[in-house]
Order: sequence, then C-alpha cells, then structure tokens
Amino acid sequence: MILVEKIKETAAFLKDKGILAPEFGLILGSGLGELAEEIENPVVVDYADIPNWGRSTVAGHAGKLVYGDLAGRKVLALQGRFHFYEGNPLEVVTFPVRVMKVLGCKGVIVTNAAGGIGFGPGTLMAISDHINLTGQNPLIGENLDAFGPRFPDMSDAYTKAYREVAHQTAEKLGIALQEGVYLGVTGPTYETPAEIRAFQTLGASAVGMSTVPEVIVAAHSGLKVLGISAITNFAAGFQSELNHEEVVEVTQHIKEDFKGLVKAILAAL
Ligand code: HPA
Repeated sequence: MILVEKIKETAAFLKDKGILAPEFGLILGSGLGELAEEIENPVVVDYADIPNWGRSTVAGHAGKLVYGDLAGRKVLALQGRFHFYEGNPLEVVTFPVRVMKVLGCKGVIVTNAAGGIGFGPGTLMAISDHINLTGQNPLIGENLDAFGPRFPDMSDAYTKAYREVAHQTAEKLGIALQEGVYLGVTGPTYETPAEIRAFQTLGASAVGMSTVPEVIVAAHSGLKVLGISAITNFAAGFQSELNHEEVVEVTQHIKEDFKGLVKAILAAL
C-alpha cells in the first residue's frame, strides 16, 4: 500500500475508536510519558493494535496512544515514540505526525530527553531551531503533495508564537525554561567528546536521538511545533559517564515541572 493510503487507513481506524477531533498532538520522550496518564476521558489504543504503526522497544517508552482532555484541550498523545536507531524506517518514525495532521491537529508538542551542551541535568529547554546531523531526511522519496511542498521552508519549523507562550507560561509558574538549538543525531551511541566539542562550535545547546525527523514532517505538513528538551545529563566530555538509566532517572526529578508546564502551555495556546 502506498504511504498516503496507509495514513488514511490508520486515521480511519483511530476515528472508529473515537479519536474524533484532536487539537494538539503530544509526542512524549524518554521518561516523560507519564503526562498521558493525566488525560481525562481517555481513549487508549495499544500500538500493537494500530494498523501500519511501529513498535516501541525502548525502556521508558510505553507504547500507547492516548486521546482525551488535558488542560481543557483535546490531545492525542504518543506515549513512546519510534526512533531511527531501533531500525525503524523514517517513514515509520514520522508516521504518527502525519496521522495527527489528517485527524485535524493544528499543532504538536514534541518532547525529548537530551544531553546538555552548556546546560546541565534538570534543565528544561524550549527548542528554537535544530541542526539535522542524522545524515537522513524523512522527506526523501516521492513528495506527498497533499501534505506539503517538495522543498519545504524550515525557517520557522519551531513556531515562534508557541515558544513565546511557553516562556510566558513558565514565568507565571516560576519554572525556569531555557532556550536553545537541538542537534539531532541517529544514536544509539552517545557522542564522543570530540563530537560534542564540534557540536558546541556549530551552535548546539542540546543533543539527542529523536525529534528532528518528526519536526521536519510536521513543518512539511504545516503543523505548528513546540519542542521541549529535558536535559538529563551533560553531554560527553563534560561528565565522566553516560547511561540510559541516568537519563530516565533525571526525568523522574523534572517530570513534575515538565507536566505542569506542558499542561499550562496547552491551556494558553
Ligand atoms: N546524547 C544523545 N542523546 C541523549 C543524551 C546525550 O547525551 N542524553 C539523553 N539523550
């Protein structure tokens, strides 16, 4: 089946389940999936039951789609995303974003755990822009003209108005929210110290293994984007050792701020 048909089939399946009018998509990164548990009147669908959908294999990623009310908004949350390093083609990694678009979402909030370049563990960072160092692009192949142009403009991929709302909301709540450039790599290795020094020179404030493909596809299809990184560690060379357990553990410490912030932003968007 061609991609557009798959997207339509999946959207129709989810509509049948009662996912009728989402306003915002939420993509919840490593350790941040708990926010989906606060969704009221939830419709929960296991990834395994959704046609054309990928499988999530990473610890800290649940593998469920949750639709319902959060902060007075209709949201469609991905509890667990797909990564390129899991062996998923980028078509699969970005598929949920296209389905969100077809179901009627106007914006997405994309979150991730990331290593900090300058910023330390526990920092929340609004993403102002990204640098794609994955060596890949999810739009390679036939262009889906129904979604967007062959050569999409990426100048405003991270919607400025959403970021302004994020900063105003953080200030009201007394939560520190930094801002910076996210540099995307494929992983699954963490970076070498030399790579991190190079990324610092390139202007990155955070580095991670997700988000870039989804945001490219969101921008292509005209979805507005707010990106938030939870910095879980100093990137390689700035601390002695890196591991996934630490990444998940640090998100446990910042998740209350994270959840409160995202809910208040949703209410204000
Ligand atoms: N590098 C890449 N991805 C990450 C990191 C990191 O240091 N921490 C959390 N995700």
